[in-house]
Amino acid sequence: MSKILFPKDFLWGAATSAHQVEGGNHNDWTEWEKSEKRLAALKGRKLNPVDFISNRAADHYHLFEKDFDILKSLNLNAYRFSIEWSRIEPEEGKFDQQEIEHYKAVIRALREQNIKPLITLWHWTFPVWVKNGWEFPNVSFYFARFCRKIGEEFKNEVRFWNILNEPQYWLWHSHIIGDFPPERKNIFLMFLVYKNMIRGHKEAFKALKNINPDFQIGVIESTGWFEPWIFRFVFQNIRNFLFPYFVSNYFDFFGLNYYRKENFLKKANNRVSESEWEIFPEGIYWNIMRCYKYFKKPIIITENGTPDAEDKIRPHFIKEHLMWIGKAIKEGVDIRGYFHWSLLDNFEWESGYKPRFGLVEIDYKTLERKPRPSSSVYAEIAKSNTIEINN
Ligand code: BGC
Repeated sequence: MSKILFPKDFLWGAATSAHQVEGGNHNDWTEWEKSEKRLAALKGRKLNPVDFISNRAADHYHLFEKDFDILKSLNLNAYRFSIEWSRIEPEEGKFDQQEIEHYKAVIRALREQNIKPLITLWHWTFPVWVKNGWEFPNVSFYFARFCRKIGEEFKNEVRFWNILNEPQYWLWHSHIIGDFPPERKNIFLMFLVYKNMIRGHKEAFKALKNINPDFQIGVIESTGWFEPWIFRFVFQNIRNFLFPYFVSNYFDFFGLNYYRKENFLKKANNRVSESEWEIFPEGIYWNIMRCYKYFKKPIIITENGTPDAEDKIRPHFIKEHLMWIGKAIKEGVDIRGYFHWSLLDNFEWESGYKPRFGLVEIDYKTLERKPRPSSSVYAEIAKSNTIEINN
């Protein structure tokens, strides 16, 4: 065993996204959640729609200060969250100053606690006027205009930015599997959307860098570990790295999200979470190594976590993944931070409220917050800024 010291100023954080925790949003997802087609599909599967409609969520919109007290009590110094485009620009070209003030208050509350914000500009939701999302005519122009507005408003308070959250993962669900809005399974549209996303990322990057060349801007992709190896060869390169490859001159750091092993042939082994996600901590190390070799850019782990309401797996999950991250640091990879997914239990998109990812449990009836035991495990590691690894 040896002790790894994480770099000075390492970002110890937790992450959320607006639609999953804020509550009270009005965007393409809220419309989809209540659409007749969606409700009929849930009814067909004998599921209760209430568990699949985001509604009030964790009411983080009103309770953010309480949540930041918890974040602070966990010795964390960074928070990743998204700014909800549909709040800022509910009608085309009309920016809502009150909502901008809301996010200013959020950032102020973080800074008062010495917690650094990392802002995601698109975490899968659109204002309702952006019909069919990334298919909308000139969408990259509108998206970049929104990003410029946010960049201008927050230029003095925010240094770290992510433009799109997991673009390829989202595209897979929206245009191939068809279980995310706008549910448009169509290979030709998929290519159009892909092109628009690449353009949207590049335009937003240029707009932000114009405001401040020192902004640190990331590209985020979901990086699974795939079995058997032949799938790994294809997916590792396509799902993990193709989008970042197309925008490789337009990011400062790679935001690496990692959750699990995806086995295409065999049933998962017995190390699984409550959603049958197969746990494979070593995979984060291999993805980090490949990513660093391809892109030669600093890495931030922008998401890593597991659905586990009873918190049986999470304490060990956190330790093991951080051990593999520590090993990569020891071998010379420039890793600048780790954000656990998630700070709070949240609305898990098409899967509704059942999967529980939070370091902090939410009682959805009373909105009471209860840190799970794993949060103390994480808090200790963050405080000591070290981890023991097997040599
Ligand atoms: C997404 C999150 C989601 C998490 C767990 C990631 O792909 O960015 O929004 O909650 O996975 O499924």
